[in-house]
Amino acid sequence: MDTNALIEVFLRWGHVISGICWIGLLYFFNFVNVPFQGKMEGDTKKKVNPELLPRALWWFRWAAMSTLLFGLALFVWMYMTPNKLMYEGIGADRALSGRALYIMIGMTVAIIMWFNVWFIIWPAQRQIIGGLKSGNPAPAHLPKRALFASRFNTYSSGPMLFLMFLAPHGGAFHWGMVGAAFAIGLATIHLAIKASPKVGTSI
Ligand code: HEM
Repeated sequence: MDTNALIEVFLRWGHVISGICWIGLLYFFNFVNVPFQGKMEGDTKKKVNPELLPRALWWFRWAAMSTLLFGLALFVWMYMTPNKLMYEGIGADRALSGRALYIMIGMTVAIIMWFNVWFIIWPAQRQIIGGLKSGNPAPAHLPKRALFASRFNTYSSGPMLFLMFLAPHGGAFHWGMVGAAFAIGLATIHLAIKASPKVGTSI
């Protein structure tokens, strides 16, 4: 294996292992923790949440950061160094490649998700958990705001991941495939969210 290939594998591995940690915790929050919180008494919540949530949110936000940094490095390495994948064709026929278009649509969705983690979900959760610890509840609008951003990210993850795979593995670019990524991705997440309060309630 040559050095260039090894660098690519390392960047892909760093990117995907970080993405697993980020999106795995996002699914824990949305598919497990949201229904679970509804079943806890106020006193139990005060004991459990300040211990559980800061740990989960630490891994969540730093995994989001690591996914972004490895992802951007992978993009520069794969697409922006000379003779790489950004363009196809030569001379007057030179145009943005289909692979670049797929990944740039996927990256746009993923970067909005990263922004939500760092600038909406985490600041809101920080105040909510701080309020639980100190006994001075956080402003009433914050839980709704955090839940909305978290749901938005959960729905977005379906199409986003589809697009991440379409770029290297999906062949020629087709807008129909982008539509399919959104339709299949959103429908799958919708089913999981609808099932989440009902499944796993008994052994
Ligand atoms: C945060 C912003 C993100 C950026 C900038 C980004 C960027 C990239 C880039 C440049 C590629 C390489 C595409 C190619 O080979 O043509 C890629 C692939 C990939 N990304 Fe992301 N990504 C992001 C978020 C995510 C997230 C959240 C996940 C969730 C797990 C993810 C999972 C993947 C997977 C599975 C691949 C394909 C790996 C392969 O088949 O070799 N990415 N990403």
